[in-house]
Amino acid sequence: MTQLSLVGVSKIFGNTKVVNNVSVTVEPGKVHVLLGENGAGKSTVIKMMSGIYQPDEGHIEIDGKTVRILGVEDARKFGIAVIHQELNLVPQLSIMENLFLGMLPAQGGFVNYRAMEKKAKEALKLIGLNEDVHTPMGELGVARQQMVEIAKALMQNASILILDEPTAALTRKECNQLFAIMDELKAKGVGMVFISHHLDEISRVGDVVTVLRDGQYIDTVDASASEDELVKLMVGRDITNQFPHEHREPGEVLLDVKDLNREGELNNISLQVRAGEVIGLAGLVGAGRTEVIRAIFGADSYDSGTVTVCGKQLPKHAIGKSIEAGLGLVPEDRRTQGLVLDASVAENLGLATMIPTSKYGFADLHGQSKREIDTAKKLRIRMANVNQTAGSLSGGNQQKIVFGKWSMANVRVLLLDEPTRGVDVGARVEIYELINEITANGGAVLMASSDLPEVLGMSDKVLVMSEGRITGCLPANEATQESVMALAVSHMDDDNNAERN
Ligand SMILES: Nc1ncnc2c1ncn2[C@@H]1O[C@H](COP(=O)(O)OP(=O)(O)OP(=O)(O)O)[C@@H](O)[C@H]1O
Ligand SMILES: [Mg+2]
Repeated sequence: MTQLSLVGVSKIFGNTKVVNNVSVTVEPGKVHVLLGENGAGKSTVIKMMSGIYQPDEGHIEIDGKTVRILGVEDARKFGIAVIHQELNLVPQLSIMENLFLGMLPAQGGFVNYRAMEKKAKEALKLIGLNEDVHTPMGELGVARQQMVEIAKALMQNASILILDEPTAALTRKECNQLFAIMDELKAKGVGMVFISHHLDEISRVGDVVTVLRDGQYIDTVDASASEDELVKLMVGRDITNQFPHEHREPGEVLLDVKDLNREGELNNISLQVRAGEVIGLAGLVGAGRTEVIRAIFGADSYDSGTVTVCGKQLPKHAIGKSIEAGLGLVPEDRRTQGLVLDASVAENLGLATMIPTSKYGFADLHGQSKREIDTAKKLRIRMANVNQTAGSLSGGNQQKIVFGKWSMANVRVLLLDEPTRGVDVGARVEIYELINEITANGGAVLMASSDLPEVLGMSDKVLVMSEGRITGCLPANEATQESVMALAVSHMDDDNNAERN
Protein backbone atom coordinates (compact mmCIF):
# COMPACT_ATOMS: atom_id res chain seq x y z
CA MET A 1 0.00 0.00 0.00
CA THR A 2 1.57 3.19 -1.12
CA GLN A 3 0.52 6.78 -0.63
CA LEU A 4 1.88 9.30 -3.09
CA SER A 5 1.76 13.04 -2.48
CA LEU A 6 2.78 16.05 -4.47
CA VAL A 7 3.32 18.91 -2.07
CA GLY A 8 3.14 22.42 -3.48
CA VAL A 9 4.79 21.51 -6.77
CA SER A 10 5.38 23.92 -9.65
CA LYS A 11 6.76 23.48 -13.14
CA ILE A 12 8.16 26.27 -15.25
CA PHE A 13 8.72 26.16 -19.03
CA GLY A 14 10.46 29.22 -20.43
CA ASN A 15 8.75 32.11 -18.67
CA THR A 16 5.50 30.32 -17.95
CA LYS A 17 4.56 28.53 -14.76
CA VAL A 18 2.39 25.83 -16.31
CA VAL A 19 1.83 24.19 -12.91
CA ASN A 20 1.70 26.47 -9.91
CA ASN A 21 1.80 25.27 -6.32
CA VAL A 22 -0.32 22.14 -6.75
CA SER A 23 -0.81 19.58 -3.98
CA VAL A 24 -2.39 16.18 -4.61
CA THR A 25 -2.46 13.03 -2.50
CA VAL A 26 -3.16 9.66 -4.07
CA GLU A 27 -4.50 7.27 -1.41
CA PRO A 28 -4.17 3.49 -1.64
CA GLY A 29 -7.29 1.86 -3.11
CA LYS A 30 -8.69 5.19 -4.32
CA VAL A 31 -9.01 6.76 -7.75
CA HIS A 32 -7.94 10.38 -7.79
CA VAL A 33 -9.29 12.22 -10.84
CA LEU A 34 -7.39 15.19 -12.27
CA LEU A 35 -9.77 17.50 -14.08
CA GLY A 36 -9.10 20.61 -16.12
CA GLU A 37 -9.29 22.18 -19.55
CA ASN A 38 -6.77 21.47 -22.31
CA GLY A 39 -3.47 22.90 -21.19
CA ALA A 40 -4.50 23.17 -17.52
CA GLY A 41 -1.42 21.20 -16.52
CA LYS A 42 -2.74 17.68 -15.86
CA SER A 43 -0.19 15.79 -17.93
CA THR A 44 2.60 17.94 -16.54
CA VAL A 45 1.50 17.00 -13.00
CA ILE A 46 1.59 13.30 -13.77
CA LYS A 47 4.94 13.66 -15.49
CA MET A 48 6.28 14.97 -12.18
CA MET A 49 4.76 11.94 -10.44
CA SER A 50 6.50 9.63 -12.85
CA GLY A 51 10.01 11.07 -12.96
CA ILE A 52 9.82 12.57 -16.45
CA TYR A 53 9.94 16.12 -15.12
CA GLN A 54 11.47 17.33 -11.87
CA PRO A 55 9.36 19.85 -9.94
CA ASP A 56 10.90 23.36 -9.94
CA GLU A 57 9.24 24.06 -6.60
CA GLY A 58 7.74 21.82 -3.93
CA HIS A 59 8.47 18.15 -3.36
CA ILE A 60 7.12 14.60 -3.60
CA GLU A 61 6.39 12.25 -0.71
CA ILE A 62 5.91 8.51 -0.75
CA ASP A 63 4.34 7.17 2.45
CA GLY A 64 5.17 10.43 4.16
CA LYS A 65 8.85 10.39 3.23
CA THR A 66 10.30 13.00 0.89
CA VAL A 67 11.67 11.37 -2.24
CA ARG A 68 13.11 12.36 -5.59
CA ILE A 69 11.91 10.44 -8.61
CA LEU A 70 14.72 10.88 -11.07
CA GLY A 71 13.40 9.03 -14.09
CA VAL A 72 11.00 6.46 -15.45
CA GLU A 73 13.13 3.59 -14.18
CA ASP A 74 13.18 5.19 -10.74
CA ALA A 75 9.40 5.61 -10.77
CA ARG A 76 9.04 1.93 -11.56
CA LYS A 77 11.17 1.06 -8.54
CA PHE A 78 8.80 3.10 -6.38
CA GLY A 79 5.93 1.01 -7.81
CA ILE A 80 4.58 3.75 -10.07
CA ALA A 81 3.31 2.78 -13.54
CA VAL A 82 2.03 5.25 -16.12
CA ILE A 83 -0.20 5.04 -19.15
CA HIS A 84 0.67 8.17 -21.08
CA GLN A 85 -1.78 10.27 -23.06
CA GLU A 86 0.19 9.86 -26.26
CA LEU A 87 1.04 6.27 -27.05
CA ASN A 88 4.64 5.19 -26.59
CA LEU A 89 4.54 2.11 -28.76
CA VAL A 90 6.75 1.11 -31.65
CA PRO A 91 4.58 0.22 -34.67
CA GLN A 92 7.21 -2.00 -36.32
CA LEU A 93 7.55 -4.26 -33.27
CA SER A 94 5.10 -6.98 -32.28
CA ILE A 95 2.62 -6.63 -29.43
CA MET A 96 4.82 -8.85 -27.30
CA GLU A 97 7.97 -6.88 -28.00
CA ASN A 98 6.14 -3.70 -27.15
CA LEU A 99 4.88 -5.17 -23.90
CA PHE A 100 8.43 -5.91 -22.80
CA LEU A 101 10.02 -2.82 -24.29
CA GLY A 102 12.34 -1.21 -21.76
CA MET A 103 11.83 -4.05 -19.32
CA LEU A 104 14.21 -6.64 -20.76
CA PRO A 105 17.43 -7.30 -18.88
CA ALA A 106 19.92 -5.05 -20.64
CA GLN A 107 22.74 -7.57 -20.51
CA GLY A 108 23.90 -10.54 -18.57
CA GLY A 109 20.60 -12.32 -18.03
CA PHE A 110 19.14 -14.25 -20.94
CA VAL A 111 15.63 -13.87 -22.18
CA ASN A 112 13.23 -16.69 -21.52
CA TYR A 113 11.16 -16.41 -24.69
CA ARG A 114 8.53 -18.95 -23.62
CA ALA A 115 7.94 -17.22 -20.31
CA MET A 116 7.68 -13.89 -22.09
CA GLU A 117 5.14 -15.21 -24.53
CA LYS A 118 3.09 -16.71 -21.74
CA LYS A 119 3.14 -13.50 -19.76
CA ALA A 120 2.19 -11.47 -22.82
CA LYS A 121 -0.76 -13.74 -23.56
CA GLU A 122 -1.95 -13.48 -19.97
CA ALA A 123 -1.69 -9.73 -20.09
CA LEU A 124 -3.84 -9.50 -23.23
CA LYS A 125 -6.37 -11.90 -21.79
CA LEU A 126 -6.68 -9.81 -18.66
CA ILE A 127 -7.82 -6.81 -20.68
CA GLY A 128 -9.93 -8.91 -23.03
CA LEU A 129 -7.85 -8.24 -26.14
CA ASN A 130 -8.23 -11.07 -28.61
CA GLU A 131 -5.08 -10.60 -30.63
CA ASP A 132 -2.03 -12.69 -31.52
CA VAL A 133 0.94 -11.47 -29.46
CA HIS A 134 3.13 -11.59 -32.59
CA THR A 135 0.97 -9.13 -34.54
CA PRO A 136 2.90 -5.97 -35.42
CA MET A 137 1.66 -3.07 -33.34
CA GLY A 138 1.16 -0.91 -36.43
CA GLU A 139 -1.61 -3.20 -37.65
CA LEU A 140 -3.80 -2.38 -34.67
CA GLY A 141 -6.06 0.67 -34.61
CA VAL A 142 -5.60 3.36 -31.98
CA ALA A 143 -8.10 1.73 -29.59
CA ARG A 144 -6.32 -1.61 -29.59
CA GLN A 145 -2.95 0.05 -29.24
CA GLN A 146 -4.33 1.83 -26.20
CA MET A 147 -5.44 -1.50 -24.74
CA VAL A 148 -1.91 -2.87 -25.20
CA GLU A 149 -0.52 0.19 -23.44
CA ILE A 150 -2.88 -0.53 -20.55
CA ALA A 151 -1.83 -4.20 -20.47
CA LYS A 152 1.79 -3.09 -20.33
CA ALA A 153 1.20 -0.94 -17.27
CA LEU A 154 -0.79 -3.69 -15.57
CA MET A 155 2.06 -6.17 -16.10
CA GLN A 156 4.24 -4.11 -13.77
CA ASN A 157 2.02 -4.93 -10.78
CA ALA A 158 2.35 -1.34 -9.69
CA SER A 159 1.03 0.01 -6.41
CA ILE A 160 0.32 3.38 -8.04
CA LEU A 161 -1.18 3.41 -11.52
CA ILE A 162 -1.46 6.67 -13.44
CA LEU A 163 -3.84 6.80 -16.41
CA ASP A 164 -3.66 9.89 -18.62
CA GLU A 165 -6.79 9.89 -20.81
CA PRO A 166 -6.87 6.12 -21.25
CA THR A 167 -10.47 6.15 -22.50
CA ALA A 168 -10.12 8.84 -25.17
CA ALA A 169 -9.72 6.26 -27.93
CA LEU A 170 -11.95 3.54 -26.48
CA THR A 171 -15.57 2.69 -27.20
CA ARG A 172 -18.05 2.20 -24.43
CA LYS A 173 -17.55 -1.54 -24.28
CA GLU A 174 -13.79 -1.23 -23.93
CA CYS A 175 -14.20 1.55 -21.38
CA ASN A 176 -16.37 -0.70 -19.26
CA GLN A 177 -13.73 -3.39 -19.48
CA LEU A 178 -11.11 -0.94 -18.27
CA PHE A 179 -13.36 0.29 -15.45
CA ALA A 180 -13.91 -3.28 -14.26
CA ILE A 181 -10.14 -3.78 -14.15
CA MET A 182 -9.79 -0.53 -12.21
CA ASP A 183 -12.38 -1.76 -9.69
CA GLU A 184 -10.34 -4.92 -9.14
CA LEU A 185 -7.13 -2.94 -8.67
CA LYS A 186 -8.90 -0.69 -6.20
CA ALA A 187 -9.95 -3.69 -4.18
CA LYS A 188 -6.31 -4.77 -4.10
CA GLY A 189 -5.29 -1.41 -2.67
CA VAL A 190 -3.74 0.11 -5.80
CA GLY A 191 -3.97 3.89 -5.82
CA MET A 192 -4.79 5.46 -9.18
CA VAL A 193 -4.70 8.81 -10.92
CA PHE A 194 -7.23 9.13 -13.72
CA ILE A 195 -7.60 11.83 -16.34
CA SER A 196 -10.53 12.09 -18.75
CA HIS A 197 -12.54 14.73 -20.56
CA HIS A 198 -15.65 12.53 -20.35
CA LEU A 199 -17.34 13.85 -17.24
CA ASP A 200 -19.72 10.90 -16.94
CA GLU A 201 -16.74 8.62 -16.30
CA ILE A 202 -15.76 10.52 -13.18
CA SER A 203 -18.57 9.35 -10.94
CA ARG A 204 -18.24 5.84 -12.38
CA VAL A 205 -14.58 5.28 -11.43
CA GLY A 206 -13.49 8.23 -9.33
CA ASP A 207 -13.37 8.77 -5.57
CA VAL A 208 -12.06 12.34 -5.41
CA VAL A 209 -11.49 15.00 -8.03
CA THR A 210 -8.81 17.67 -8.05
CA VAL A 211 -9.56 20.52 -10.42
CA LEU A 212 -6.81 22.55 -12.10
CA ARG A 213 -7.26 25.74 -14.09
CA ASP A 214 -4.36 27.43 -15.92
CA GLY A 215 -1.90 25.47 -13.82
CA GLN A 216 -3.49 26.60 -10.56
CA TYR A 217 -4.98 24.30 -7.96
CA ILE A 218 -8.69 25.14 -7.71
CA ASP A 219 -10.29 22.59 -5.39
CA THR A 220 -10.57 18.93 -4.42
CA VAL A 221 -14.14 17.63 -4.30
CA ASP A 222 -15.96 14.32 -4.00
CA ALA A 223 -16.33 12.44 -7.30
CA SER A 224 -20.09 12.37 -6.77
CA ALA A 225 -20.25 16.11 -7.53
CA SER A 226 -22.63 16.94 -10.38
CA GLU A 227 -21.31 17.46 -13.90
CA ASP A 228 -22.49 21.07 -13.85
CA GLU A 229 -20.56 21.69 -10.68
CA LEU A 230 -17.42 20.14 -12.13
CA VAL A 231 -17.68 22.13 -15.37
CA LYS A 232 -18.04 25.32 -13.41
CA LEU A 233 -14.93 24.59 -11.31
CA MET A 234 -13.06 23.67 -14.45
CA VAL A 235 -13.86 26.52 -16.81
CA GLY A 236 -15.03 29.11 -14.30
CA ARG A 237 -18.37 29.59 -16.11
CA ASP A 238 -21.51 27.63 -17.03
CA ILE A 239 -21.78 25.95 -20.41
CA THR A 240 -25.42 26.10 -21.40
CA ASN A 241 -25.50 24.32 -24.73
CA GLN A 242 -23.14 21.39 -25.14
CA PHE A 243 -24.20 20.74 -28.73
CA PRO A 244 -24.95 24.01 -30.54
CA HIS A 245 -25.97 22.30 -33.78
CA GLU A 246 -27.64 24.58 -36.32
CA HIS A 247 -29.93 22.87 -38.76
CA ARG A 248 -29.95 24.18 -42.36
CA GLU A 249 -31.86 23.39 -45.50
CA PRO A 250 -29.58 21.02 -47.40
CA GLY A 251 -28.38 22.33 -50.78
CA GLU A 252 -26.66 20.62 -53.69
CA VAL A 253 -24.75 17.37 -53.26
CA LEU A 254 -21.10 18.20 -52.51
CA LEU A 255 -19.81 14.74 -51.71
CA ASP A 256 -21.14 11.77 -53.64
CA VAL A 257 -19.69 8.35 -52.88
CA LYS A 258 -20.89 5.41 -54.94
CA ASP A 259 -20.27 1.71 -54.31
CA LEU A 260 -16.80 1.92 -52.78
CA ASN A 261 -15.31 -1.51 -52.34
CA ARG A 262 -12.08 -2.81 -50.94
CA GLU A 263 -11.50 -6.50 -50.37
CA GLY A 264 -12.35 -7.44 -46.81
CA GLU A 265 -12.72 -3.84 -45.58
CA LEU A 266 -15.22 -1.73 -47.52
CA ASN A 267 -18.42 -3.19 -48.80
CA ASN A 268 -20.50 -1.17 -51.28
CA ILE A 269 -20.23 2.11 -49.43
CA SER A 270 -22.56 4.73 -50.90
CA LEU A 271 -23.37 8.04 -49.28
CA GLN A 272 -24.10 11.67 -50.11
CA VAL A 273 -23.46 14.83 -48.16
CA ARG A 274 -25.16 18.07 -49.22
CA ALA A 275 -24.17 21.66 -48.71
CA GLY A 276 -25.10 22.74 -45.19
CA GLU A 277 -25.30 19.19 -43.88
CA VAL A 278 -23.44 17.37 -41.14
CA ILE A 279 -23.60 13.59 -41.55
CA GLY A 280 -22.47 11.47 -38.62
CA LEU A 281 -20.75 8.13 -39.11
CA ALA A 282 -21.24 5.82 -36.13
CA GLY A 283 -20.18 2.26 -35.38
CA LEU A 284 -18.03 0.12 -33.12
CA VAL A 285 -14.24 0.15 -33.21
CA GLY A 286 -13.21 -1.66 -36.37
CA ALA A 287 -16.53 -1.12 -38.17
CA GLY A 288 -14.70 0.63 -41.00
CA ARG A 289 -15.41 4.32 -40.35
CA THR A 290 -11.77 5.39 -40.56
CA GLU A 291 -11.31 3.26 -43.69
CA VAL A 292 -14.25 5.02 -45.39
CA ILE A 293 -12.97 8.47 -44.48
CA ARG A 294 -9.42 7.70 -45.61
CA ALA A 295 -10.54 6.16 -48.91
CA ILE A 296 -12.69 9.21 -49.69
CA PHE A 297 -9.80 11.54 -48.92
CA GLY A 298 -7.41 9.55 -51.08
CA ALA A 299 -5.18 8.51 -48.18
CA ASP A 300 -5.86 4.87 -49.11
CA SER A 301 -6.89 3.25 -52.37
CA TYR A 302 -9.98 1.17 -53.19
CA ASP A 303 -10.83 -1.59 -55.67
CA SER A 304 -13.96 -0.14 -57.26
CA GLY A 305 -16.48 2.67 -56.88
CA THR A 306 -16.33 6.46 -57.29
CA VAL A 307 -15.86 9.55 -55.16
CA THR A 308 -17.23 12.81 -56.57
CA VAL A 309 -16.63 16.19 -54.92
CA CYS A 310 -18.51 19.28 -56.15
CA GLY A 311 -19.37 17.44 -59.37
CA LYS A 312 -15.82 16.32 -60.09
CA GLN A 313 -14.88 12.65 -59.90
CA LEU A 314 -11.62 12.19 -58.00
CA PRO A 315 -8.81 9.86 -58.99
CA LYS A 316 -8.10 7.13 -56.44
CA HIS A 317 -5.46 7.55 -53.80
CA ALA A 318 -4.44 11.12 -54.72
CA ILE A 319 -4.53 13.40 -51.68
CA GLY A 320 -3.27 16.43 -53.61
CA LYS A 321 -6.17 16.20 -56.07
CA SER A 322 -8.63 15.72 -53.20
CA ILE A 323 -7.44 18.89 -51.50
CA GLU A 324 -7.62 20.81 -54.78
CA ALA A 325 -11.20 19.62 -55.24
CA GLY A 326 -12.11 21.02 -51.80
CA LEU A 327 -11.74 18.08 -49.42
CA GLY A 328 -10.12 18.34 -46.00
CA LEU A 329 -9.41 15.70 -43.35
CA VAL A 330 -8.97 15.87 -39.60
CA PRO A 331 -7.50 12.41 -39.01
CA GLU A 332 -7.93 10.05 -36.09
CA ASP A 333 -4.30 10.05 -35.08
CA ARG A 334 -3.17 13.66 -34.91
CA ARG A 335 0.40 12.96 -33.88
CA THR A 336 1.33 10.81 -36.85
CA GLN A 337 -1.08 12.07 -39.50
CA GLY A 338 -2.36 15.50 -38.65
CA LEU A 339 0.61 17.47 -37.40
CA VAL A 340 4.27 18.12 -37.94
CA LEU A 341 5.28 17.99 -34.30
CA ASP A 342 8.64 19.72 -34.65
CA ALA A 343 7.18 22.56 -36.70
CA SER A 344 5.64 25.62 -35.09
CA VAL A 345 1.95 26.22 -34.48
CA ALA A 346 1.97 28.81 -37.27
CA GLU A 347 3.62 26.47 -39.74
CA ASN A 348 1.14 23.74 -38.94
CA LEU A 349 -1.83 26.07 -39.33
CA GLY A 350 -0.46 27.15 -42.70
CA LEU A 351 0.06 23.65 -44.07
CA ALA A 352 -3.29 23.20 -45.77
CA THR A 353 -3.29 26.64 -47.35
CA MET A 354 0.13 26.35 -49.00
CA ILE A 355 -1.40 24.95 -52.16
CA PRO A 356 -3.95 27.72 -52.81
CA THR A 357 -1.55 30.58 -52.05
CA SER A 358 1.29 29.22 -54.12
CA LYS A 359 -1.04 28.74 -57.10
CA TYR A 360 -0.62 32.39 -58.01
CA GLY A 361 3.10 31.98 -58.09
CA PHE A 362 3.86 33.71 -54.81
CA ALA A 363 3.06 33.11 -51.20
CA ASP A 364 1.27 35.89 -49.34
CA LEU A 365 3.44 35.58 -46.25
CA HIS A 366 2.18 38.63 -44.44
CA GLY A 367 -1.50 37.82 -44.91
CA GLN A 368 -0.77 34.23 -44.10
CA SER A 369 0.86 34.97 -40.76
CA LYS A 370 -1.97 37.31 -39.78
CA ARG A 371 -4.49 34.60 -40.60
CA GLU A 372 -2.51 32.09 -38.56
CA ILE A 373 -2.49 34.35 -35.54
CA ASP A 374 -6.22 35.08 -35.94
CA THR A 375 -7.04 31.40 -36.24
CA ALA A 376 -4.99 30.50 -33.19
CA LYS A 377 -6.82 33.22 -31.25
CA LYS A 378 -10.23 32.18 -32.47
CA LEU A 379 -9.61 28.59 -31.44
CA ARG A 380 -8.21 29.78 -28.12
CA ILE A 381 -5.12 27.62 -28.57
CA ARG A 382 -3.16 27.77 -25.33
CA MET A 383 0.47 28.52 -26.08
CA ALA A 384 3.25 30.99 -25.43
CA ASN A 385 3.07 32.24 -29.06
CA VAL A 386 2.55 30.86 -32.58
CA ASN A 387 6.24 30.01 -32.85
CA GLN A 388 6.03 27.32 -30.17
CA THR A 389 6.42 23.77 -31.58
CA ALA A 390 3.16 21.89 -32.02
CA GLY A 391 4.61 18.88 -30.20
CA SER A 392 5.00 20.83 -26.95
CA LEU A 393 1.31 21.78 -26.76
CA SER A 394 -1.16 19.85 -24.62
CA GLY A 395 -3.10 17.09 -26.41
CA GLY A 396 -6.36 18.97 -26.85
CA ASN A 397 -4.60 22.05 -28.16
CA GLN A 398 -2.85 19.92 -30.77
CA GLN A 399 -6.27 18.77 -31.96
CA LYS A 400 -7.43 22.36 -32.31
CA ILE A 401 -4.49 23.09 -34.62
CA VAL A 402 -5.35 20.21 -36.94
CA PHE A 403 -8.86 21.60 -37.09
CA GLY A 404 -7.75 25.16 -37.53
CA LYS A 405 -5.51 24.25 -40.44
CA TRP A 406 -8.54 23.27 -42.51
CA SER A 407 -10.80 26.02 -41.29
CA MET A 408 -8.20 28.38 -42.82
CA ALA A 409 -8.19 26.54 -46.13
CA ASN A 410 -11.80 27.12 -47.22
CA VAL A 411 -12.71 23.49 -47.57
CA ARG A 412 -15.99 22.54 -49.25
CA VAL A 413 -16.24 19.12 -47.62
CA LEU A 414 -14.52 18.46 -44.30
CA LEU A 415 -13.99 14.86 -43.24
CA LEU A 416 -13.63 14.43 -39.49
CA ASP A 417 -12.39 11.32 -37.72
CA GLU A 418 -12.92 11.56 -33.96
CA PRO A 419 -12.77 15.37 -34.05
CA THR A 420 -13.00 16.01 -30.30
CA ARG A 421 -10.96 13.14 -28.92
CA GLY A 422 -9.11 14.49 -25.91
CA VAL A 423 -10.72 17.92 -26.23
CA ASP A 424 -12.19 19.52 -23.10
CA VAL A 425 -15.86 20.46 -22.78
CA GLY A 426 -15.34 24.15 -23.45
CA ALA A 427 -13.06 23.69 -26.45
CA ARG A 428 -15.41 21.05 -27.79
CA VAL A 429 -18.14 23.65 -28.09
CA GLU A 430 -15.65 25.88 -29.93
CA ILE A 431 -14.95 23.08 -32.41
CA TYR A 432 -18.69 22.56 -32.90
CA GLU A 433 -19.01 26.28 -33.65
CA LEU A 434 -16.36 25.79 -36.34
CA ILE A 435 -18.44 22.98 -37.83
CA ASN A 436 -21.40 25.37 -37.87
CA GLU A 437 -19.28 27.97 -39.59
CA ILE A 438 -18.39 25.52 -42.35
CA THR A 439 -22.01 24.59 -43.00
CA ALA A 440 -23.13 28.23 -42.75
CA ASN A 441 -20.68 29.00 -45.56
CA GLY A 442 -22.27 26.32 -47.72
CA GLY A 443 -19.79 23.56 -46.88
CA ALA A 444 -20.52 19.99 -45.85
CA VAL A 445 -19.19 17.78 -43.07
CA LEU A 446 -18.83 14.01 -42.73
CA MET A 447 -18.00 13.17 -39.12
CA ALA A 448 -16.93 9.75 -37.85
CA SER A 449 -17.12 9.59 -34.08
CA SER A 450 -17.31 7.05 -31.28
CA ASP A 451 -18.87 9.65 -29.04
CA LEU A 452 -22.56 8.89 -29.51
CA PRO A 453 -23.94 11.98 -27.74
CA GLU A 454 -21.75 14.02 -30.10
CA VAL A 455 -22.95 12.17 -33.21
CA LEU A 456 -26.58 12.57 -32.15
CA GLY A 457 -26.11 16.13 -30.96
CA MET A 458 -24.23 17.56 -33.93
CA SER A 459 -25.42 15.66 -37.03
CA ASP A 460 -28.44 16.01 -39.29
CA LYS A 461 -28.35 12.34 -40.20
CA VAL A 462 -26.50 9.38 -38.75
CA LEU A 463 -25.08 6.60 -40.90
CA VAL A 464 -24.26 3.48 -38.94
CA MET A 465 -21.55 1.06 -40.01
CA SER A 466 -20.85 -2.53 -39.13
CA GLU A 467 -18.17 -4.77 -40.60
CA GLY A 468 -17.34 -2.53 -43.50
CA ARG A 469 -20.91 -1.79 -44.61
CA ILE A 470 -23.49 0.84 -43.94
CA THR A 471 -26.24 -0.85 -42.00
CA GLY A 472 -28.61 2.05 -41.56
CA CYS A 473 -29.33 5.74 -41.88
CA LEU A 474 -31.31 7.59 -39.20
CA PRO A 475 -32.39 11.23 -38.94
CA ALA A 476 -30.40 12.41 -35.91
CA ASN A 477 -33.43 13.91 -34.16
CA GLU A 478 -35.18 10.52 -34.18
CA ALA A 479 -32.12 8.39 -33.43
CA THR A 480 -31.25 7.22 -29.92
CA GLN A 481 -28.08 5.66 -28.56
CA GLU A 482 -29.97 2.35 -28.48
CA SER A 483 -31.19 2.49 -32.09
CA VAL A 484 -27.70 3.37 -33.30
CA MET A 485 -26.11 0.56 -31.28
CA ALA A 486 -28.62 -1.96 -32.60
CA LEU A 487 -27.52 -1.11 -36.17
CA ALA A 488 -23.88 -1.08 -35.13
CA VAL A 489 -23.96 -4.73 -34.09
CA SER A 490 -26.16 -5.97 -36.97
CA HIS A 491 -24.39 -8.01 -39.67
CA MET A 492 -22.06 -9.35 -37.02
CA ASP A 493 -21.04 -12.99 -37.40
CA ASP A 494 -22.76 -15.39 -35.05
CA ASP A 495 -19.60 -16.25 -33.20
CA ASN A 496 -19.59 -12.52 -32.46
CA ASN A 497 -16.57 -10.80 -33.73
CA ALA A 498 -17.16 -7.44 -32.14
CA GLU A 499 -13.53 -7.80 -31.17
CA ARG A 500 -12.22 -7.79 -34.72
CA ASN A 501 -10.56 -4.77 -36.21
N1 LIG B 1 7.87 20.61 -22.85
C1 LIG B 1 7.12 21.71 -22.85
N2 LIG B 1 7.59 22.91 -23.27
C2 LIG B 1 6.85 24.02 -23.25
N3 LIG B 1 5.57 24.07 -22.82
C3 LIG B 1 5.02 22.92 -22.41
C4 LIG B 1 5.76 21.68 -22.39
N4 LIG B 1 4.95 20.70 -21.92
C5 LIG B 1 3.78 21.30 -21.65
N5 LIG B 1 3.80 22.63 -21.92
C6 LIG B 1 2.71 23.58 -21.74
O1 LIG B 1 2.20 23.40 -20.43
C7 LIG B 1 0.79 23.57 -20.39
C8 LIG B 1 0.15 22.39 -19.72
O2 LIG B 1 0.25 21.26 -20.55
P1 LIG B 1 -0.31 19.83 -20.14
O3 LIG B 1 0.09 18.90 -21.22
O4 LIG B 1 0.09 19.51 -18.76
O5 LIG B 1 -1.89 20.09 -20.19
P2 LIG B 1 -3.11 19.06 -19.95
O6 LIG B 1 -3.87 19.57 -18.79
O7 LIG B 1 -2.58 17.68 -19.87
O8 LIG B 1 -3.98 19.29 -21.26
P3 LIG B 1 -4.80 18.26 -22.23
O9 LIG B 1 -6.14 18.07 -21.63
O10 LIG B 1 -4.93 19.00 -23.51
O11 LIG B 1 -3.98 17.02 -22.36
C9 LIG B 1 0.37 23.78 -21.84
O12 LIG B 1 0.12 25.12 -22.06
C10 LIG B 1 1.55 23.29 -22.66
O13 LIG B 1 1.66 23.98 -23.88
MG1 LIG C 1 -2.77 16.04 -21.09
